[in-house]
Formats: sequence, C-alpha cells, structure tokens
Amino acid sequence: MIKMNLNPSYDIVLRAGAIDALPAYISSGKLLVITDDGLPQAHIDRLLALLPAGTHVFTVKQGEGAKSLDGYAAICEELLRLGFHRDDMLIAFGGGVVGDLTGFVAATYMRGISFINIPTTALSQIDSSIGGKTAINFCGTKNVLGCFHQPRAVLVDTAILSSLPARQLYNGLVEALKAGLIYDSALFEIFESLPIQENINEIIRLSLLVKKDVVEKDEKEQGLRKILNFGHTIGHGLESSCGLLHGEAVAYGMLCMIDDEALRARVKRIIQDKLHINAAISFDKAAVLAEISKDKKADTDGVTIVTVNKPSEAKLRRVSFDECISYLDRL
Ligand SMILES: NC(=O)c1ccc[n+]([C@@H]2O[C@H](COP(=O)([O-])OP(=O)(O)OC[C@H]3O[C@@H](n4cnc5c(N)ncnc54)[C@H](O)[C@@H]3O)[C@@H](O)[C@H]2O)c1
Repeated sequence: MIKMNLNPSYDIVLRAGAIDALPAYISSGKLLVITDDGLPQAHIDRLLALLPAGTHVFTVKQGEGAKSLDGYAAICEELLRLGFHRDDMLIAFGGGVVGDLTGFVAATYMRGISFINIPTTALSQIDSSIGGKTAINFCGTKNVLGCFHQPRAVLVDTAILSSLPARQLYNGLVEALKAGLIYDSALFEIFESLPIQENINEIIRLSLLVKKDVVEKDEKEQGLRKILNFGHTIGHGLESSCGLLHGEAVAYGMLCMIDDEALRARVKRIIQDKLHINAAISFDKAAVLAEISKDKKADTDGVTIVTVNKPSEAKLRRVSFDECISYLDRL
C-alpha cells in the first residue's frame, strides 16, 4: 500500500487482486461504475460481484473519442436521471480515457463528488490514475478542458493487465521509462539491464513512487511537477497528428528532448528493443507545430520544455516554437 500525502490523503493499493479491497472504500450512497466497451466482460463481472446490488454501470465507447464534451454530457445526464447527489460516488474502471473522463465528471458534477479510480491499462496503472489531473478534449485540442480532482482511492490490480494487448502494455511502459529518466536512475537501470516482463510489478511500484513524490511536492504543477511532462510537448503534437498511442508519441517526444547523443542512443535502443516501438516515424512538421502551439505549457512567445541528459536529472527550459520544432530533426 502506498499513501498519497495530499489534503485529503488517499490510499494507492498496489497488488495482484487489489480490486478485492474495493468494498472498504465505497460510500453508502448510490454508485455508478464508468467503463468502456473494450474491457473484457470477465473483469466487469468480477468488479460488480464486489459491489452492492443496484450499482449502476455506464459504458462508453472505447478510445480517445469518449473524452469529449458529448461523452461528458452523456454521463452527467445519466447522473441527473439517476438522482445522484454529492454523497454518491463514481468508480472509474478502465484506462486513462475512462479515468480522465470520470475524474472530470466527478470534479464538476454538483461542484464535486467522490470517485475511486481502478486503472486497468499499463499506462493508467503506471501514471494517469494518480495525481488528480482530469480532462476532456475539445475542438480537436487534447486535454484542454480539465481540472485537478484527487480520487478517494486508487486500486492498482496488476492481475488485470493479463488481458491487455502487447501494444497497449508497451505503450504504458513508456511512462515508466519517462519516470526513470526524469527522477529515478534505478528504474531506468531496470529498463536498460533487466528483462521487462519479469519486472513489471516493480516497474509499476517505482513509477508510482516517482509520481507520488513529485505530486506531493507540487500538486498543482507550479514548478517541479512540470518535469512529468518530459516528452509530452512534442509527444502531444505527434499523437494528435500521426494517430499514435499516447505513450508511443511520448517515446518519440523524449528522444527529441535528450541533448546528449550517447544517452539518446541508449534510450532509442530501449524503445526499439524492449518496448517494441519502431524508432523511425514520418510526420508533417507544420501539423506538429500547430498542435504544440495549443500546448498548455505554451504562451504566445514559446513553450517550456523538459530536457534530460543524465538519468534522474530533469531540467526545465523555455524555448521559442521554432527551437522546439527544430528538435524534431533528432528523430
Ligand atoms: N491524467 C493524467 O495524468 C494522464 C497521464 C497520462 C495519460 N493520460 C491520458 O490517458 C489516456 C490514454 O490512456 P490508456 O493508454 O490507458 O488508453 P485507453 O484508456 O484508451 O485504453 C486503451 C484500450 O485498452 C482497453 N483496455 C483497458 N483495460 C484493458 C484490459 N485490462 N484488458 C484488455 N483491454 C483493456 C480499452 O478498452 C481501450 O480500448 C489519454 O487520453 C491520455 O491523455 C492522462
């Protein structure tokens, strides 16, 4: 068990079978589980068996498209129809899409209700389920409507990952590689020297500890927390314009932000050989630039980027859009 020491604090239960802890965290009011139609039914049946009869379920279509104003409105309509009030509770059961969407509904419905996050993808177990960032996409811009709203608890059940397709697993592990690069050289060392499959539980644990430490020091991203965006500025640009998964795009974004050629070559080898992401990519620079200028870390003059030249040492740097886009030549 990991304790997230914020105000209020919350538990992160991390183990195979963590979902069994759910009854201890639910409130006595109404419950709505929000999930997506890509999650195997066996997981949903297992979850519902732990919850009181009469628990409601709302299923969104799988994929980034659910993180939209329409997706948000549909859930809020359902909450009104079911008569949900502030002392009722939502349970996010899915990947980062379901977590971000549920969190945003929970943050705003009746000015905020509780939610429990049960992440079911590698990306959401490693990164997105903790830290309280919630968001939906709007007018083609990623995560542009959102706020901070911490969950009541996070249950990271590593056994649920057994049904995840390999591409989704490696996609999520990119966020763990990022955590090692910015903050924990021992975690980076696992990626470089040890077999990944045998070390997934430890990789998730160390990644969560990195995020916990950073978020506890800077919950609202006033300074230090910006390092978690390593690879994300160019990554978001590539994700939107090249149709990549989030982690895959961040992998390319990180390569662009390593000035030291030797370290860049080491990271490239990990991305290719251990995370099975093709290091060659074609993209339209103008389309990526258009996305970067909408980045939340940007203003009219430029953008704050994160660079790493030694594992565990991240630095923030303010650059012009032209300079930022020039780093794409490193791919
Ligand atoms: N809030 C944050 O701090 C934060 C951080 C990083 C990323 N994100 C967001 O996370 C999202 C991406 O999340 P993701 O990578 O989890 O993708 P996702 O939520 O789209 O899930 C990927 C796919 O896996 C399926 N799936 C989920 N669990 C499964 C399981 N156990 N077995 C089989 N299939 C399963 C889903 O149905 C979906 O089709 C993006 O929208 C990104 O912006 C948020």
